[in-house]
Amino acid sequence: MKLWQGRFDAPEAADADAFNQSLSFDKQLWRADITASIAHATMLGKCRILTQEEADAICEGLRGIYSDIESGTLAIEGQEDIHSFVESELVARIGSTGKKLHTARSRNDQVATDMRLYARDAADNAVALLKALVNALLARAKETVNYIMPGFTHLRKAQPINCAQYFNAYSEMFLRDLDRFHALKKRMNVMPLGSAALAGTSWPIDREVTRELLGFDSISQNSLDAVSDRDFVAEYLFCASLAMAHLSRLCEDTILYTSDEFGYWEIPDAYSTGSSIMPQKKNPDIPELVRGKTGRVYGHLMGILTTLKGIPLAYNKDLQEDKEPFFDAQATLESCFSIYTALILKLTFNVNKMYDAAGEGYSTATDVADYLAKRGVPFRDAHAVTGRLVRYCIEQGKTLPSLTLEEFRAASPVFEADILQAVTTRSSAEGRNSVGGSSREAAKAGIASIRKRLKQY
Ligand code: ARG
Repeated sequence: MKLWQGRFDAPEAADADAFNQSLSFDKQLWRADITASIAHATMLGKCRILTQEEADAICEGLRGIYSDIESGTLAIEGQEDIHSFVESELVARIGSTGKKLHTARSRNDQVATDMRLYARDAADNAVALLKALVNALLARAKETVNYIMPGFTHLRKAQPINCAQYFNAYSEMFLRDLDRFHALKKRMNVMPLGSAALAGTSWPIDREVTRELLGFDSISQNSLDAVSDRDFVAEYLFCASLAMAHLSRLCEDTILYTSDEFGYWEIPDAYSTGSSIMPQKKNPDIPELVRGKTGRVYGHLMGILTTLKGIPLAYNKDLQEDKEPFFDAQATLESCFSIYTALILKLTFNVNKMYDAAGEGYSTATDVADYLAKRGVPFRDAHAVTGRLVRYCIEQGKTLPSLTLEEFRAASPVFEADILQAVTTRSSAEGRNSVGGSSREAAKAGIASIRKRLKQY
């Protein structure tokens, strides 16, 4: 029996019912739905819309349903949606007093409230997972602050960088993601309950009571808006998409750096996979899957934006389409962040290989140009002189650090003996002592700064 059957002559056709139903996925909202209903019934009692006995009986019944679902003795099935399920179960348990629960309420404000309660927890989860990942990155940064690795632009070796500076770069991205989820939670923590179907209610409700009970920061100020927007879902999906974009980049680096061609890092066997035909293979399936799953989170963002764009005010059933993308994106985000956090803590580093690679590709050429410029040669000229030196190295099969002082001086008389030190891999990285730069001190300061900002959440 439908909640809305009264007006209809015939029951809903089975195929229409199957198409319309949302219980198969909105059952995930059961905690939020029951919690919001307990708050609503409590408020109805306080406001004398229900007698205290009626309100108590309803709350008692709802608590019983909650614990039976939790313990697994009550299966969520047989109704159109989670709201119908909880209400019909309540009526089955406490009789017709249960039918008074829906006084001064509609499923429209109910589902909007449930989704905000649910999304609020999802935002908290995201903050916690991002915190865990940044902590893992900080740990790896601390361990690697004495190591040097190649820094790339255009996937060509560019300049030597500090390993900790590398990990700090991702910490900065994830800190911004963390802050976005944190801010999103604040913005979404507004209560729609009390808006009813769309126009508000003539019952003398007190929305402050339910707000307080449900821990919302404020109540919505327009009932039409409250029942019909899902911007907080779109925002969650955007925050999730961007966080996944950052994680996907880190995964791409992981895949490259652990390849035979790079060989800077290693993924332990426990987090690697093999091939069914090629016995020698050790594949980076986990980072590849994270990279792949990023696409589906983006897809959900596009989906919700498209769903929202053309619907007339106020509630329309299109809005039921907010749930599956949200739940799937949440599950995807949470599983990707937790598995990658576990993986990054277990990566091992081939320190010498990274150091040697950092010195390849004439990666200290900028230091040679800077050397000249610091001694008065205009930078553009210094750049040209160094470019000629690089060409000389290519032709002679030499590296910049292997050149003799005479070879340097043949390119410019400004070079003195100290160029031989300035052109080494370590002094190149150590020389960049600007805030956020590649020196050990700068990387250590980066770690301290990230740690301090992380503590604010
Ligand atoms: N399952 C519905 C949804 O998710 C609940 C609200 C139904 N409201 C209605 N007017 N049919 O949006």
